[in-house]
Amino acid sequence: MIKSLASPCSGAGSQKLKFDRSCKKVKQRAVRMELTITQPDDWHLHLRDGDLLHAVVPHSASNFRRAIVMPNLKPPVTTTSAAVTYRESIMEALPHGSSFDPLMTLYLTDKTHPHEIKLARESGVVYAVKLYPAGATTNSQDGVTDLFGKCLPVLEEMVKQNMPLLVHGEVTDPNIDVFDREKIFIETVLQPLIQRLPQLKVVMEHITTMDAVSFVQSCKGGFVGATVTPQHLLLNRNALFQGGLQPHNYCLPVLKREIHREAIVKAVTSGSKKFFLGTDSAPHERRRKESSCGCAGIYSAPVALSLYAKVFDEAGALDKLEAFTSFNGPDFYGLPRNSSKITLKKAPWKVPEAFSFSFGDIVPMFAGETLQWQPFFE
Ligand code: DOR
Ligand code: ZN
Repeated sequence: MIKSLASPCSGAGSQKLKFDRSCKKVKQRAVRMELTITQPDDWHLHLRDGDLLHAVVPHSASNFRRAIVMPNLKPPVTTTSAAVTYRESIMEALPHGSSFDPLMTLYLTDKTHPHEIKLARESGVVYAVKLYPAGATTNSQDGVTDLFGKCLPVLEEMVKQNMPLLVHGEVTDPNIDVFDREKIFIETVLQPLIQRLPQLKVVMEHITTMDAVSFVQSCKGGFVGATVTPQHLLLNRNALFQGGLQPHNYCLPVLKREIHREAIVKAVTSGSKKFFLGTDSAPHERRRKESSCGCAGIYSAPVALSLYAKVFDEAGALDKLEAFTSFNGPDFYGLPRNSSKITLKKAPWKVPEAFSFSFGDIVPMFAGETLQWQPFFE
């Protein structure tokens, strides 16, 4: 439900108003609004472990009802038993009274046994398996090197168990330009994969290119979906170099050209059911980002809902926001939609410069900047 908080002529609110000759008040900026939607879920989240887990989990738990929790810890979460233990540590770190539900994932390796998929399904807490091509990103060194060989029996079992494969879609060949790695992955891995296993549910995670948009749109039958991050909707690759090197805008897959960003915005604001919210919120301590070899990952959990609302607002598509944040994800996973609601209000707020903890700082996306939309909860 979209509601106007103050009509342009009411004089209420903090908008700047001006008068034309006939003394009619004329709105200079958009009317303040509020928007009540079903509580969103985050279908791609890095919660980490230890101190970092305790530091970041409240941000996700206060904004989202559920989240698909990525397994790229050290060591990676490769078994159902490890996923159950990891889930317990997340539950212990949650703020008192939180109803946040972490949906666990397994980290696929060349050694994963098909039986592990049965265990995962039976556990009731593991919802998907993550494919990291070995070396593609943070803690991916134990990832897959032989998808169509060693991993094939596991993929076949996943089809039987209706267990989605969540794909970090980049080739890792160092000879391939980093900006082309997603496109080439689609051609050399994803297309052949869905041809071979058309019934495998696949989420192309954090899509970054018009090629990924076209690929996902071309897949019929509801077996292929995609998550979309705030950074790939709001930033292009210039943001990496604006006024100097910007480590807090560095993530993988790396930001792309403006034409790609525009294609992704068009896809998500079109109302297509194939695209859904996945922040890829990936906290690293400031010193690990502002370093001679900085880590990939953008910490977006505290600002993500505000940023997605900004994207849909600027595209004139606020009526499509709820499906993207709250319906398309659960529908794809075959899970119920949430019953709780949140209200987003259009009122300026300043993103903190950093969140400070005993072990160090974490710098959020858009640190220090003023955003317009703020979430409020029932
Ligand atoms: O930027 C990223 N950071 N991309 C990923 O795929 C992993 C993530 C992380 O875990 O830090
Ligand atoms: Zn990720």
